[in-house]
Amino acid sequence: MAWEREPDQAALALTPLLHQRWSSRVYDPQHHLSDDDLTTLLEAARWAPSAGNSQPWAFLVGRRGDATHSAFVEQLSRGNSFWAPRASALMVSLHRIAAEPGSDFPYSDYAAYDLGQAAAHITVQAQSMGLYVHQFAGFDHDRVARVFEVPDHWQVTTGIAVGRLAPVSTIEDVEPSLAVRERRLRQRNPLSQFVFEKSFGTSAGWLPGPGRQQSHTNDPGFGPQP
Ligand SMILES: Cc1cc2nc3c(=O)[nH]c(=O)nc-3n(C[C@H](O)[C@H](O)[C@H](O)COP(=O)(O)O)c2cc1C
Repeated sequence: MAWEREPDQAALALTPLLHQRWSSRVYDPQHHLSDDDLTTLLEAARWAPSAGNSQPWAFLVGRRGDATHSAFVEQLSRGNSFWAPRASALMVSLHRIAAEPGSDFPYSDYAAYDLGQAAAHITVQAQSMGLYVHQFAGFDHDRVARVFEVPDHWQVTTGIAVGRLAPVSTIEDVEPSLAVRERRLRQRNPLSQFVFEKSFGTSAGWLPGPGRQQSHTNDPGFGPQP
């Protein structure tokens, strides 16, 4: 995979699964996610760590063309409706916000943290399979809860789009603003802004200088040539 600009030098030290990841908006509408691949992605979530092994997550899963995917598409925000429907799979992620009725298993205050970690597992697993994940919050959460009959002790949290990048040859078919965003410079705060020692707000002295922490753009490849 070729980079459009010099990648962040520090990011290059990461596993390629992390430094080649981005939240794509250019999914291949021809791609079908097989049962096996979908199962593997959800196995990755299943094996995430969680507080007390509480596993306080759930996923409503639809694939393009099925009723769950279509029902979720209807609840997307306008911005997300430009790209998310082309994803091979759309999931609603949920975390448990109260104890299961009739269960003595205590509610965990770390449920949202645990769900986020399970979602991160999906992201990395997808990347290892040549798939791209884009998480999103822009949809009508209340309506999703109603449409999918979500019990009160579960909270609808994010959407998770999964798919293959569209082939380069189809780039002209994509909404122009999406193609621009796909190649936009990706930026991150420097480590000194959030890695501290001695007291909160005091940057750790051992951190590398800013020269090793540039921004970088995505691979402009938009997936393999057909
Ligand atoms: C909780 C959450 C909510 C997000 N909501 C949206 C969204 O509604 N629409 C969207 O296009 N991207 C959304 N994103 C994607 C972020 O904008 C994206 O991860 C961030 O800009 C960093 O870009 P990268 O993932 O390509 O590194 C969301 C991501 C997360 C984790």
